[in-house]
Amino acid sequence: MTALPDGFAGRVVRWQRTHGRNSLPWQNTRDPYRVWLSEIMLQQTQVSTVLDYYSRFLVRFPDVRRLAAAQPDEVMALWSGLGYYSRARNMHRCAQDVVALHGGEFPRTAGLLQTLPGIGRSTAAAIASFCFGERVAILDGNVKRVLTRVLGFGADLAQAGNERELWAYAEALLPRRALEESMPRYTQGLMDLGATVCLARNPACLVCPASGLCVAHREGNPEDYPVKTRKLKRTSQALWLLRARNAQGSTWLEKRPATGIWAGLYCLPVYESRDALQAALPAKAQARLQDGEPFLHVLTHKDLHLHPVAIEMPSGSPRTEAGAWFAGSELPRIGLPAPIRRLLQD
Ligand code: ADE
Repeated sequence: MTALPDGFAGRVVRWQRTHGRNSLPWQNTRDPYRVWLSEIMLQQTQVSTVLDYYSRFLVRFPDVRRLAAAQPDEVMALWSGLGYYSRARNMHRCAQDVVALHGGEFPRTAGLLQTLPGIGRSTAAAIASFCFGERVAILDGNVKRVLTRVLGFGADLAQAGNERELWAYAEALLPRRALEESMPRYTQGLMDLGATVCLARNPACLVCPASGLCVAHREGNPEDYPVKTRKLKRTSQALWLLRARNAQGSTWLEKRPATGIWAGLYCLPVYESRDALQAALPAKAQARLQDGEPFLHVLTHKDLHLHPVAIEMPSGSPRTEAGAWFAGSELPRIGLPAPIRRLLQD
């Protein structure tokens, strides 16, 4: 291990007190249910988006027992639009495990929290440090950026051994005193530094409490960190969406399979080609298909080119496996992918 910067944790803690974010709705509580909910929502989604979802979730599910007892469809409906739906499914399972295996109380250590569905090492550490003052390290994407810069850690994080080494540094840098107060502040301070100062491009080193001991700042190349060689390849896919409506104006929706895109949500029937879509309809209906305006929906690793195709079906229904007719008034209550919800609102 190379030399650790002296006094890093203290600087982060003091800076967080006056310059960090201190009035987000999931702060100023040590209730693990609330902290856990916010951390799961914040895993891939920015704070401004999470705010509304978080408060709606808490109104409907004020504690872990109510969430555990909910119907999966209702959980998915409240999650609809946040994306990464496996988070919602794991969250529901996690609530059920907390009730079934831990008597309705979240475990109080990062080690045990990590055994629950959807809670990885960094999320477990965030919950345990925020709620119980445990001396454990977080290492999410933002924190990797902060620490690799401060340390001048230039090894490739695409290799597991290097990532393990960075975890060890993250642990060595943790505060050593007054953990009940300093751990929550330090954890939040690292997140805040990553989100507001130590930015991927044009970091604001002038206002950074750690610039005096930051190797990358001294070298003048903070943007060169972190090093990660494996580039995610973006792909693109075209999908055809069957928008069938019956005489009452209801829309035919089916439940997506448990894996793959939009898993577990309700959706218009999806096909990989227009021919496949056409084959799902009775022969006499096929001539009445109306091609709508294709539109782009961007996922993290994939561009989806979506082609809606409408049809009025005064009688009968499409030949899809597990579908049903839904009235417009029912749509707000079911889990739909965001682009499908937007399409159906037009
Ligand atoms: N991102 C992940 N956890 C967060 C938190 N507690 N506050 C703000 N942003 C976050």
